[in-house]
Amino acid sequence: MREKDNTELVSNIMELKKKKNAIILAHFYQTGDIQDIADFIGDSLALSQKAAANDADIILFAGVRFMAETAKILAPDKKVLIPDMNAGCSLADSCDPVEFKKFIRDNPGRTVVTYVNTNIDIKVLSDITCTSSNAVQIIESLPEGEKVLFGPDRNLGNYILNKTGRDMVIWNGACHVHEEFSIEAILKLRKENPDAKVIVHPECELPVRMIADIIGSTSALLKFTSTDNSPAYIVATEPGIIHQMIKKNPGKKFIPAPPKDSTCGCSECNFMKMITMEKIYRCLKDEEPEIRINSRVLAKARKPIIRMMEISEKLGL
Ligand code: 13P
Ligand code: SF4
Repeated sequence: MREKDNTELVSNIMELKKKKNAIILAHFYQTGDIQDIADFIGDSLALSQKAAANDADIILFAGVRFMAETAKILAPDKKVLIPDMNAGCSLADSCDPVEFKKFIRDNPGRTVVTYVNTNIDIKVLSDITCTSSNAVQIIESLPEGEKVLFGPDRNLGNYILNKTGRDMVIWNGACHVHEEFSIEAILKLRKENPDAKVIVHPECELPVRMIADIIGSTSALLKFTSTDNSPAYIVATEPGIIHQMIKKNPGKKFIPAPPKDSTCGCSECNFMKMITMEKIYRCLKDEEPEIRINSRVLAKARKPIIRMMEISEKLGL
């Protein structure tokens, strides 16, 4: 019954996409059914690049609000839809604009580099943005000796600091999903699965990063599992990515890293999971909710993103 309903929903969505010349961009943390109907699946950087270059009239973003806002900033003439406007991000919300402005004032003479996981009022205050795919290269692209103010993620910030050795002050923000992984549970799993490698997103805390076989963005982790020859992986990022890992490596075993609070049993991003097939259908049909950004704000927020895109393009990222 459920399968039949879904089949009908899929065909309705496909029909609407065609009729309206719309594309669906989906992040790897979306559920498998949504990833399977998307025109493009990727990490934050790849999705931004796709939003900036496509022939559609409408972009439906299956992801969280900061990602859809980035798409609108890069494609201001297109209609950008998000199936649930409440799909926020705890990391973006851990950076209050008034406090961040004060942080910048208290640390003068620094280039403000922000992770794209921010609300738009933080992008407006930034000199350049980055994603987890290009963060190290963006910082390294700055002249040696240039001082950096980084936000909002303390874990990604410390990871970059260790990699580059640059002079950085770091905002004290974090993602509630990636800080929730239990080091004890991962070590226990590794003991039970001695062939498994531990793959970790840089938003995780230091103890988890320290036992990682690889640290990388969602697309870097996906690529690693396809090129590496281990039979199993303990995955310390949102488990939505495992859908693509299994598709690309059907013979391998993927074990989601457990959270500290074992009663929940998983580490899903509740914001990412607010997007559903039903909401996608309704959103495409009604062309609402739509991302609308004041043109002055958009122009200001665009500058640091374009700077990131230009550096990424130059470096072939
Ligand atoms: P990626 O850019 O690695 O896909 O990360 C996005 C994100 O929200 C991680 O929590
Ligand atoms: Fe934000 Fe964390 Fe969810 Fe990524 S996983 S969208 S950083 S809350």
